Amino acid sequence: MKIIEKISEMKNLIRSWKEKKLRIALVPTMGYLHEGHLSLVRKAKALGDKTVVSIFVNPLQFGPKEDFREYPRDLERDKALLEKEGVDTVFVPLAEEMYPSNFQTYVEVTQLTQGLCGAFRPGHFKGVTTVVLKLFNIIEPDWAIFGEKDYQQLKVIQQMVKDLNLEVKIIGCPTVREKDGLAMSSRNTYLSSEERISALSLYKALNLAEELIKRGEKESKEIKKKLKELISSFPYTQVQYIELVDPETLEPVEKVEKPILCALAVWVGKTRLIDNKIISP
Ligand code: PAJ
Repeated sequence: MKIIEKISEMKNLIRSWKEKKLRIALVPTMGYLHEGHLSLVRKAKALGDKTVVSIFVNPLQFGPKEDFREYPRDLERDKALLEKEGVDTVFVPLAEEMYPSNFQTYVEVTQLTQGLCGAFRPGHFKGVTTVVLKLFNIIEPDWAIFGEKDYQQLKVIQQMVKDLNLEVKIIGCPTVREKDGLAMSSRNTYLSSEERISALSLYKALNLAEELIKRGEKESKEIKKKLKELISSFPYTQVQYIELVDPETLEPVEKVEKPILCALAVWVGKTRLIDNKIISP
């Protein structure tokens, strides 16, 4: 398995693959890998002749008060996991090469980024789309694989690809969960053992939403109220948002009459967790 840091070296390798007509699948990550990431890697391996995993904690997508510095990192462990999966190349770009001091070009999806996480993390998706477009330009993948765990991110990237006529095919993969249902996340490592119990409130709330909707509840307001009550009954939790939105436009839905996305962001202690589920009436 090759570890590449330099953009020029990555581009040279890609050129040699392209000359051989090899097809490339990319999995962009910020590292501290878990089974969720590895499920994307396995999908990439099944699709492409060559698999590239990028590991880059992208400073551009963190707000000034967010956890860029604390974000967990363990490159040696990540490399060992990827080696085991049979990944061809790990791209670990250097921040100073990705964003030299005179960097001044950004790409922004304007509408899908308004609600949900976008409303609470100004600039976050602009940072995501900018780094992902740079990775697409460096690696020129035929496929790029993303998790539905970050549903809004997946939609935003699909929109960017469509709007900018990119050739890459975006593949979404289902959320991988711990045995008890907690969505896997690199940030789960921040949780104390007591907070870990409260973290399950997100999954429980999504299940409650499904139960209510299957029982015929149509009023978003009612559903959101019951979900908030459930989450708030767990210690250390602070709801940031509970939304029922159209899965395509991400616009809020008042009455549940077709499939909706139920999306949550909850602070558990100092850790911000998100989860979501598509629910059909
Ligand atoms: P990161 O949080 O490391 O996630 C990398 C990819 O793994 C994303 O596509 C994310 O949706 C997916 N993922 C995370 N947890 C998952 C889970 N439990 N099940 C399935 N997939 C999961 O998302 C980012 O990094 C960054 O924003 C990035 C796209 C790399 C741009 O910097």
